Amino acid sequence: MASSINNRKPSEIFKAQALLYKNMYAFLDSMSLKWSVEMNIPTIIYNHGKPITHSNLVSILQIPSTKVDNVQRLMRLLAHNGFFEIVTNQELENEEEAYALTVASELLVKGTELCLAPMVECVLDPKFNASFHNFKKWIYEEDLNLFATSLGCDLWEFLNKNPQYNRLFNDAMASDSKMINLALKDCKLVFEGLESIVDVGGGNGTTGKIICEIFPNLKCIVFDRPKVVENLCGNKNLTYVGGDMFISVPKADAVLLKVCFFKLKYSTSVILFLVQRLFKDEIIINNVDINFEGFLFLFFCVNPAFDRDVNKV
Ligand SMILES: C[S@@+](CC[C@H](N)C(=O)[O-])C[C@H]1O[C@@H](n2cnc3c(N)ncnc32)[C@H](O)[C@@H]1O
Repeated sequence: MASSINNRKPSEIFKAQALLYKNMYAFLDSMSLKWSVEMNIPTIIYNHGKPITHSNLVSILQIPSTKVDNVQRLMRLLAHNGFFEIVTNQELENEEEAYALTVASELLVKGTELCLAPMVECVLDPKFNASFHNFKKWIYEEDLNLFATSLGCDLWEFLNKNPQYNRLFNDAMASDSKMINLALKDCKLVFEGLESIVDVGGGNGTTGKIICEIFPNLKCIVFDRPKVVENLCGNKNLTYVGGDMFISVPKADAVLLKVCFFKLKYSTSVILFLVQRLFKDEIIINNVDINFEGFLFLFFCVNPAFDRDVNKV
């Protein structure tokens, strides 16, 4: 049988192999990131107050001597991927390499205001990402959603039944929501004239609380699955309501719907459909921000005080 690449130049074939292997081993990028969070390396470097030498790091981590070189390899891979900067420690005689934080690893330092470590822990948890091995099954079985391929039920049902994963997921969403603090102050216009807002699928209210702090006169309702909000207490301008958004959503002047989806061709129209179904044509979408490094990121704030012109989005 003739080879399908008979007429290709060897250099072309090797380039293709390199591309293939790069993609095949791309999971090592995620796994090394997960490892660094599990080992608390960003937090250790942060607490160290200056770049940490390799020998110092392995000593703090109590790495068995047989694995010291492997740690160095992982640190170099992470540095190559932008998570650490390798600096040479000139003070030491042998100019041993040392690792410094970058902006990306600063976001993984635990106990700080903006920490996305819970997001890494959740997304790279084997239980949650096992579904991504099942694209084929998912595509062929019409009524099967992706998470059901490995969890046996949809994600929300699984979270309802498993408090430990519910916590992992909600902490991850809360950590992601804190990032919104950076943007909200510049988006005050979107909230002008509102007396109330409902954050649909608002999780444990992290975004809601930030909104209430910045806009103390705005009443915010955090609406999510009953299991998510059941033990949460609001305050004078924040209330939690449990329910199913596909059935009904508490009334408010505006709707906030902040969702992360995998890049799906139809995500935008699915969301628009959902919003339109819930609020008939009484809504205007003011602020849609799309495209976030391979993810589709949607941030809607629906404010009836604005023009009814979707093209202004
Ligand atoms: C991807 S998370 C987003 C959480 C939060 N808005 C954020 O951006 O961090 C989606 C949220 O929708 C909630 N959710 C899913 N199905 C729901 C339903 N049928 N009714 C109400 N909330 C739901 C989940 O519990 C979860 O908190």
